[in-house]
Amino acid sequence: MTDQVVKETVKGHKRLERNVTLMAVATFLTVTIGGIVEIAPLFWIDNTIEKVDGMRPYTPLELAGRDIYIREGCYTCHSQMIRPFKDEVERYGHYSLAAESMYDHPFQWGSKRTGPDLARVGGRYSDEWHVQHLKNPQDVVPESVMPQYGFLAEADLSIADPAANLTALRRVGVPYSDEQIEKAEADLKLQADPAGNAADLAARYPKSQVRDYDGNPARLTEMDALVAYLQMLGTLVDVDSAAAQEELATEKGR
Ligand code: HEC
Repeated sequence: MTDQVVKETVKGHKRLERNVTLMAVATFLTVTIGGIVEIAPLFWIDNTIEKVDGMRPYTPLELAGRDIYIREGCYTCHSQMIRPFKDEVERYGHYSLAAESMYDHPFQWGSKRTGPDLARVGGRYSDEWHVQHLKNPQDVVPESVMPQYGFLAEADLSIADPAANLTALRRVGVPYSDEQIEKAEADLKLQADPAGNAADLAARYPKSQVRDYDGNPARLTEMDALVAYLQMLGTLVDVDSAAAQEELATEKGR
């Protein structure tokens, strides 16, 4: 650079830095361009989440359990998001994939872990263990600070309009079919009925489990719903093969 150019540049800079209006306009332009570059591509891609095999919307009973989970504030002590760190993967299992919470409204990732992460708790314990633990956590883990939720086993599950719940979720992008919405009320009862037709439910919700969850087949309780929800957490996706697919897609540059 010649001296002349340097002088001119310094002069230009001085003017910019000493003129508030000019500085504001220049700042605005810079931020706008940066913002557009970040945001614009999102309008042209259909989805920011890679779809993985096995993911499906919640069954009406699991959804009811999830609503109880939220109502009772379980998320204030439990996260549902395993981070890709060695210690977490060793303790909880494969790290969470984005697609695994794609149908969650609202998501339950959380950051508070007074208790352990629950993203993959499904199938780890028996139903009886869950019921006993929810009724009195100190029975199974003497030093536990978890509160008691025995009243859930006494409360009849009462969902005013299960079909409306699925319809609301469909409006925000969860792909419930007409048939699933139509049969929501029946499916809610079917899943906790030990004599229920498991194959029928599995046709609409693959990997769904039909049985009495709370130890009392005569009643459909909030405990049934909550345990059904806990028992399916993290069980839908074959994570190892799904993660491998995702990595391969990233390597190829998609
Ligand atoms: C005050 C904090 C707190 C709240 C609220 C809470 N928990 Fe816990 N939870 C814990 C703690 C601490 C543990 C670990 C000790 C134990 O197993 O009781 C735990 C353990 C668990 C476990 C066993 C996890 C494992 O991998 O061993 C499950 C399942 C669970 N909680 C479910 C729930 C549900 C469902 C709710 C809401 C109805 C809930 N918790 C509310 C603190 C809490």
